[in-house]
Amino acid sequence: MDLGLTDKVALVTGASMGIGLAVSTRLAEEGCHVAMVARRPGPLEEAAADIAAATGRDTIALPGDMTSWEDAERVAAEAIEHFGHIDIAVPNAGSSPGGLLEDLTPEQWDGSLDLKFMGHVRTVRAVIGHMRERGTGNITMVVGNDGLKPSHWELAAGVANAADHNFASSIAIQYAPHGIRVNTVNPGPVATTRWDTLEKAFARDKGITQERAHELTLSSLPLGYICTPEQVADVVAFLASDRAGYINGAHVPVDGGQRKALMDR
Ligand SMILES: NC(=O)c1ccc[n+]([C@@H]2O[C@H](COP(=O)([O-])OP(=O)(O)OC[C@H]3O[C@@H](n4cnc5c(N)ncnc54)[C@H](OP(=O)(O)O)[C@@H]3O)[C@@H](O)[C@H]2O)c1
Repeated sequence: MDLGLTDKVALVTGASMGIGLAVSTRLAEEGCHVAMVARRPGPLEEAAADIAAATGRDTIALPGDMTSWEDAERVAAEAIEHFGHIDIAVPNAGSSPGGLLEDLTPEQWDGSLDLKFMGHVRTVRAVIGHMRERGTGNITMVVGNDGLKPSHWELAAGVANAADHNFASSIAIQYAPHGIRVNTVNPGPVATTRWDTLEKAFARDKGITQERAHELTLSSLPLGYICTPEQVADVVAFLASDRAGYINGAHVPVDGGQRKALMDR
C-alpha cells in the first residue's frame, strides 16, 4: 500500500532512540522529511545522519526538552523555518515511572505528568496554530495502553496516558473542521531501553527476579512476544497518512491484546 507520504514533513519528539527513532525511520522510508527532537544532541544528530544516509530524505536534529514550553515552541519554529511547514506531528517523548501508590514520590508524579502529559500538550500547542492556518495537518500521539487498561503498578503512566487520551479526543473534535486529524497509538510493552528499565523496577517492587518479571510480561501477551518499535512505527505511519483519512479521535491499541491483569498478581 502506498501511504502517499512522499515529501510530507514530520516533527517527531523523543526521536533519538526506541519508538521515536523507529517512527522517524519509517516515515523517512515512506518519503517524509523529518525534524527529530530529543534532549541530547550527540545521539540525535547521529540518528538523523543515519536515516538521511539510508533514505536520502532531509532529516534534521533539533535538540530540545519537551518539559520546556520555550523548547517546544522553538523546535517547531525551527522545523517550519527549515522545511517551510509541518504536515505531521508525532508527540512521543515521554516516560513515567512504574511503582505503587505509597512508593511513588511527589517528584515522580510531577515529572510523569510534566513530560508524558504536558510534553504532548506543549508539542501540540506549538504546531496546531500553524496547521490550522494551513487547513491541513495530522497529529499522532504515542501514548500507552496503561491509559486504556489500568494497572496499579503502572498508575503514574496510566493517569498521564488517560489525560493524553482526553486531550486528544477533545482537540480531534475541535480541529477536524480545519483539516486536522488527531489520534493516539497505545503500545503495551515494547522492546526498548525504557521497557528494560520498567521490568527491572517491576521485579524490585514485586520482590521477584527480572527473569520472573519477564515471564509474567510474556504470559500477559497472547501473541507470546514483546512488540518491536517498528510495529508501533508502522501504525503511526498509517495513521499519519491519508490512507487513514477517516480515522479521527481514535485511541488505537498496539499491545497484541495484552491481558495486563496477569502482571498485577
Ligand atoms: N517502551 C515501552 O514499552 C512503551 C510502552 C507504552 C508506551 N510507551 C511510550 O512510548 C514513548 C517512547 O518510549 P520509548 O520506550 O521509545 O522510550 P526510550 O527508548 O526511553 O526513548 C526516549 C526518547 O525520548 C527522548 N526524551 C526523553 N526525555 C525527553 C524530553 N524531556 N524531551 C525531549 N525528548 C526526550 C530520549 O532522548 P534524550 O534522552 O536525549 O532526550 C529518547 O530519544 C514514550 O512516550 C513512552 O511512554 C513506551
